[in-house]
Formats: sequence, structure tokens, C-alpha cells
Amino acid sequence: MAADRHLYRITGGVPLRGAVQASGAKNAATKQLVATLLTDEPCVLHGVPRILEVDLVLGMLAELGTEVTWLGEHTVRVCTPKVTSTSLSSSYSGVNRIPILMMGPLLHRRGETVVPLPGGCTIGKRPIDFHLAGLSQMGADIVDGTRSVKVRANRLSGAHVHLPFPSVGATENLLLAAVLAKGTTVISNAAVEPEIVDLVLMLQKMGALITIDIDRTIVVSGVSELGGVEHRTVPDRIEIASFAAAAVATNGRIQVRGARQDHLITFLNALRHIGGEFTETEDGLEFFRGRPLTAADIETGVHPGFMTDWQQPITVLLTQAAGTSVVHETIYEDRFGYAEQLSTAMGAEIELTTKCLGATACRWHARDFLHTAKISGPTPLKAADLVIPDLRAGFGYVLAALVAEGTSTISGTRYLERGYEDPVAKLAAVGARITTQPA
Ligand code: EPU
Repeated sequence: MAADRHLYRITGGVPLRGAVQASGAKNAATKQLVATLLTDEPCVLHGVPRILEVDLVLGMLAELGTEVTWLGEHTVRVCTPKVTSTSLSSSYSGVNRIPILMMGPLLHRRGETVVPLPGGCTIGKRPIDFHLAGLSQMGADIVDGTRSVKVRANRLSGAHVHLPFPSVGATENLLLAAVLAKGTTVISNAAVEPEIVDLVLMLQKMGALITIDIDRTIVVSGVSELGGVEHRTVPDRIEIASFAAAAVATNGRIQVRGARQDHLITFLNALRHIGGEFTETEDGLEFFRGRPLTAADIETGVHPGFMTDWQQPITVLLTQAAGTSVVHETIYEDRFGYAEQLSTAMGAEIELTTKCLGATACRWHARDFLHTAKISGPTPLKAADLVIPDLRAGFGYVLAALVAEGTSTISGTRYLERGYEDPVAKLAAVGARITTQPA
């Protein structure tokens, strides 16, 4: 992965006040860009965040023959009249999870493809067995290599695929494969995150036939072709929650324009349990502290549960709450690695355990993964020099630095900027004392 563009210097202890605009969701826009491969007609996407991850995906599409034109700051027109290559260069191996989602569209367009495999990462193993098993059930012939996977199919056929776990990526992969497959595909135990529903809305506008039942069953009746589309990506509920946590942790008040309450129900309940509050504004939500902060028990889960990507800012917020909180991570086995720097360098009291201390024994039960955190607070945090290990931990560190007395430096900012649009400008707009220096 590319080097940092710059480091951040943050002087904490200032309540953040003001307004920011929510960006479009990284985890929706990037998949929607992949979906445009399903048609040879032009597609226009609005609300596309200007983040490194989007640049990466557009680079991949360009390799496959996609014409990309930015029509405005957040509006991009993409058109792939002809798929000119069936494979992506190996430089995309281990980079992100997007190439594996291209398998279905590329099979429909060209009958075969070789896509680089996603790499290991600091939050867990993240296998793609569900993706491959589902595509195989739909008739794909798969040769799984060490760095890439080779897939062939004359035409994919509908199948009943039951996912062992409601995986976001596998659900998206099967959706993108099923829309143009022959016959009906049933995906049971599917993920139904708002970003997936947004992908379904876009596909429906393109001509797809998809129903989502309340029991996590998605039924896709394959059609023979899809057309162009104009679509606006949903706001990023991870970015919104991050700014909400920043408002409450610094005892400030931040209005996030574009924030949608219906995508944040579980988050808002957790925030309120801790002492945060929100109010609806004309075009979004405003977040602030409603009372002194108190400990809470939180368990991450699949939608409509508490997102694993909200876990990091909330964990930092809980260091400022009175009492002992428990955060039980049930999606990824290894998503608390970032806690060590918070404890050793900043003075947070976070103890990790392999035990499931939440309401349920999760998939990581008795498997030796440090996936539950006990957080005691409130603890004044000390400024420190921090190195970001992954995207979501990145905002956690920014938030810790915003709370800490003194000036912290943060490196590894390339991870954060993969998923957060212009974080420095947005934080400065709400009064954060943040500057950058060349890396
Ligand atoms: N899993 C398998 N086998 C599979 C697929 C998933 O065992 O074939 C397991 C995973 O290892 C994990 C669980 O199922 O334990 C859930 O993984 P899921 O497939 O839902 O995650 P994903 O699609 O790889 C997306 C987001 C993540 C977000 C998760 C959960 C993207 C590009 N990534 O990952 O976002 O945390 O869903 O909501 O959409 C981020 O944005 O920083 C990020 C990591």
C-alpha cells in the first residue's frame, strides 16, 4: 500500500463545535462502481466520496476498459462499453476486497476472469470461502490460487445459497452474480445492511428483479440484460457515528448534515446509554452530551445490530465514561489490536479478554481470540505518538488525540484516508486543533 501523504498533529482538550457534511458511504459507493460493470451503458453515481479507496476502485475499472469521467466533486460517470481485460494486475493483490466482487460481472461480460485475492489484514483472517462456495453453486468453475482466483462459467445459473453467516461481501458478490444469471437465486441468511439495500436499489433501477424478505432471504430473478442508471449513494453511517462520538467525547456539539436516523437506530441507542444525545436538524442530526457519561455494555453484530465499524470510536468514548464498560466484538476475531497503544501510550484502562462477555457466546467463543474489551473510566488520556494499524482504528486514535491533553502525532494516516473524506478539513471545521506535516 502507498505511503502516508502526511502525519497529523492534534492538540486535544477542545470541545468540537460546528457542522460537517456527511460523505457518501465508502462501503456502498465502491460496490456500486463494481455494479456498473454489469452494463455497457453509462452510469452516473452521485455522492461518491473522494477517498483513496474510490481512487483504487476507479483504477481497477480503468484497467478493465471502463471510461471514467468526474462530472462534479462527488459525481462520476462510468461506462464500460467493452470489457477489454478479464484480469486485474497483480498489484491489486492483497489491496482490498473489491476485486473478488468483480467475479460475477466479469463472468457475465467475458465468461472468465482472474482476480487478485484480498490480503490478510490486521482485524482478522477474513476468508472468502462463502463467496467461492456460492459462485460454485451457481455453476462457476473455480481454481483458487495463492494470490489470485481463476473463474470460468458459460452462464451462471440461479441456485439456493445459504450463507453460514450473514456476510456483507458474500451477499454482495452473490447479488452481483445473480442479477444476470439464468433463473432464480435465493440467498438465505443474507446480510441486509443499508449499503446492501442501496446496492439493491441501484440494481433495481438498472432493471434487476430482487426482493428482500424480513427473514434475511434475498430472492433474485435473473434477467438477460441491465441498463444504465443514475443513483445517489447513501450517506456514510460510519463517518457520521465517528463525528457523533467526537462531539460527545469532547463535550461539544456537532451537526452532521445528511445524517439519517433510520440508519443509526442501534448506534443512537448505545450513544444514549452512555450519555450522548441527538436532535434532528433541518438536514441531518446534531450530536452532543446529554448528561455525564456512564459505562455501557455493547456487542457488535450484523445489521440491525451495532456495527463493528462503530466499535473503535465508541471504545475511545467509553474511556471517558464513569464505571466499567464491556465491548464484545462478534464480527471479527482480532479487532482490538489498536487498544494496546491507547493503554500503554495514552493511559486508557482497557483490558482485553478471550471470553465472550456479551449476551451471546459468539463464533470466537473458547478460541483464544482477544475479542472482548473491559474499559474502566473515566481516564484522562495523555498525548502520544500513535501509529494507525487499520482504517477504523484510525478514527479511534484521532478521537483519543482530540480528547487527550497535549499534542499527539498520528502516522499511518493513509489507512484513515482510505475511508474518510478530507478528515483534516472536516475536523478543523468543527474547531479541532489539527495540522498536517509531510510524512
Ligand atoms: N466471513 C467468512 N467467510 C467469507 C466471508 C466472511 O468467514 O467468505 C466472515 C468474516 O471473516 C467475518 C464475518 O464473516 O468474520 C463478516 O464478514 P463480512 O463478509 O460481512 O465483511 P466484509 O464484506 O469483508 C464489510 C466491510 C467491512 C465491515 C464488514 C462488516 C467492505 C469493503 N468492508 O466487510 O468494513 O466491517 O463488512 O460490516 O464493505 C471498513 O470499512 O473498514 C471495513 C472493514
